[in-house]
Amino acid sequence: MDDLIARRAAFDTAEFPEEGLEVDDLAHEPDVSRETSMRIPPSPRIIVVANQKGGVGKTTSVVNIAAAMALEGLRVLVIDLDPQGNASTALNVEHREGVAGTYEVLIDGDDIIAHVQRSPESDNLWVLPATLDLAGADIALVNMHGRETRLQRALQQFLIDAYADYIFIDCPPSLGLLTLNALVAAREIMIPIQCEYYALEGVTQLLRTINIIKGNLNDRLELTSVLLTMYDARTRQAQQVADEVRAHFPQTLSAAIPRSVRVSEAPSYGQSVITYHRASAGAQAYLQAATEIAAQA
Ligand SMILES: Nc1ncnc2c1ncn2[C@@H]1O[C@H](COP(=O)(O)OP(=O)(O)OP(=O)(O)O)[C@@H](O)[C@H]1O
Ligand SMILES: [Mg+2]
Repeated sequence: MDDLIARRAAFDTAEFPEEGLEVDDLAHEPDVSRETSMRIPPSPRIIVVANQKGGVGKTTSVVNIAAAMALEGLRVLVIDLDPQGNASTALNVEHREGVAGTYEVLIDGDDIIAHVQRSPESDNLWVLPATLDLAGADIALVNMHGRETRLQRALQQFLIDAYADYIFIDCPPSLGLLTLNALVAAREIMIPIQCEYYALEGVTQLLRTINIIKGNLNDRLELTSVLLTMYDARTRQAQQVADEVRAHFPQTLSAAIPRSVRVSEAPSYGQSVITYHRASAGAQAYLQAATEIAAQA
């Protein structure tokens, strides 16, 4: 606990570079010959992480896969699209009410690059934070022009303003206008599935939604990864769910994320599990998942 308080205090008093400097850093084209053990994609990959079922490991997976890639030298942006702001918390960026972020991008039409913050996890990791204000975005969007395409347009502009290898979008547990914006803006979808009895409930509805979006608003959207989370190899049920998911979805990554205390406690230290406890089984599984995703490019 003392350790946690010390870290928090260090974060609160840390001197952050001028905003302009950070933006210049992100706008600067990364060195093509940079050292990385993970494949650099030929063009930026935009991956939405969605499942309208709550608590299945969406945020945990976004945070740890993004951190794993960034620590290996890839340049990564995380867009926090959930008013709960869990990804912003876990990646240790400022997101108290009033801090500009996803809400201002979606509702006011601000540029993403104006509000991104660098995560203390890695120089290569950037976050567009979400605050509680975002809870009002669904209603505010309803009457707006191009309400489903606002994130898509903002991301198109971001890719002109800046360089990123990967953009991960962390969705709230619903299929409302926020998630819809993500599904329209992204090329790829990753579905985390928790290894428990009702795991596939809701996935059918999500797949139906994806098909509707493919037919109307975004014909390039593809389900490219399914990730098994909170896997407990000791229970038969988890194995059965994993087998069923693998049979249903050939896109299932071979890395399954084990249920692990290290994974769940890392955010309370404002860290990913990769920097918090790299040798742990959870960190190693997320590193493997990130490597597999990078290898798809
Ligand atoms: N591999 C894991 N081992 C142990 N606990 C985990 C693991 N993955 C996630 N958790 C815990 O499960 C809870 C839900 O995870 P998480 O917040 O990532 O899910 P989510 O799908 O983003 O939830 P929401 O739908 O509310 O956004 C959290 O308390 C998290 O710490
Ligand atoms: Mg979440």
